[in-house]
Amino acid sequence: MQTNHSDGPAGRARSVLGRCKQVARQTRETGLRVLAGLGMSQSESKISAESQQYWAQPGGQSWESDSHWRAAPEFDSTDLWSRIGRKHLALFDKGARMVEFDRPLDRVVEWGCGGGANAVHFAPRAKEFVGIDISAQTLEECAKQVAAVCDTTFRPVRIDVAEPDEALRQINGPCDVFLCFYVFELLPTPEYGELVLRIAHSLLAPGGLALIQVKYNDGRWLTKPRRRFRSSALADLTTYPIPVFWTLAEGCGFTPEMIHLVPKNELDERYAYFLLRKGETEGQESSNHPR
Ligand SMILES: C[S@@+](CC[C@H](N)C(=O)[O-])C[C@H]1O[C@@H](n2cnc3c(N)ncnc32)[C@H](O)[C@@H]1O
Repeated sequence: MQTNHSDGPAGRARSVLGRCKQVARQTRETGLRVLAGLGMSQSESKISAESQQYWAQPGGQSWESDSHWRAAPEFDSTDLWSRIGRKHLALFDKGARMVEFDRPLDRVVEWGCGGGANAVHFAPRAKEFVGIDISAQTLEECAKQVAAVCDTTFRPVRIDVAEPDEALRQINGPCDVFLCFYVFELLPTPEYGELVLRIAHSLLAPGGLALIQVKYNDGRWLTKPRRRFRSSALADLTTYPIPVFWTLAEGCGFTPEMIHLVPKNELDERYAYFLLRKGETEGQESSNHPR
């Protein structure tokens, strides 16, 4: 955070508070990584179970902020919530123009739709918007937000963290666009993220586009995957070096078309957006387990 003394005492206080939060976060991340380095990392199934326990049930205002509900304290006094999806739609449009993707959107899928910050911007463009999430209450909130802006059918798909491929069984048809924002960093492990990529590829129709945001690992020890769940430090669980995610996406059958980097924004830091395309000649896979 940069110091801006022109804001006066209030600005200086905010700046000091911001620095304190940053130091506290780095200290917490260091502690968690020391534990992982000492061989105390958790298995994927243990992280999945703790993640399920955290996300499945509403847990007050901080949970609502973490789930990006519009009325949560982090969002209710600014237009940040609206800007999240607006920026994502603009980025999608830019990428779509670049690759000349202009088909009608029969179905858009969002993995980890949360309280609908993206859904309210993308759903009006689609015949059907499918929101996948862990929490039934979050899906209800997302449905409410979509209904407030358009008549597009909203289809909620609830999955358990331990069974992501359940989404394939519930969504029995292809989608044109697959979206995932502010979720890959919360996934239990980088390997789990690869499974979500494979599911995205399976769901997409030939020629379909995926826009996926990940947190990137910049080589510093503190930015590597953590492999330990902590509800007080949700982000940074799973990160990827940028070229590694590119290669991973190719390994899952995608053609990466564009990367957009956001080193820092109002919510966090080190974000990379990948625009991925499924080949025109590839078939729509069935609901087989994609592993
Ligand atoms: C930070 S919110 C992001 C919401 C929305 N994508 C946005 O950009 O505003 C994270 C959401 O991901 C969901 N989530 C967490 N782990 C998940 C997983 N393994 N699969 C699908 N959704 C998950 C949470 O329940 C929560 O609603």
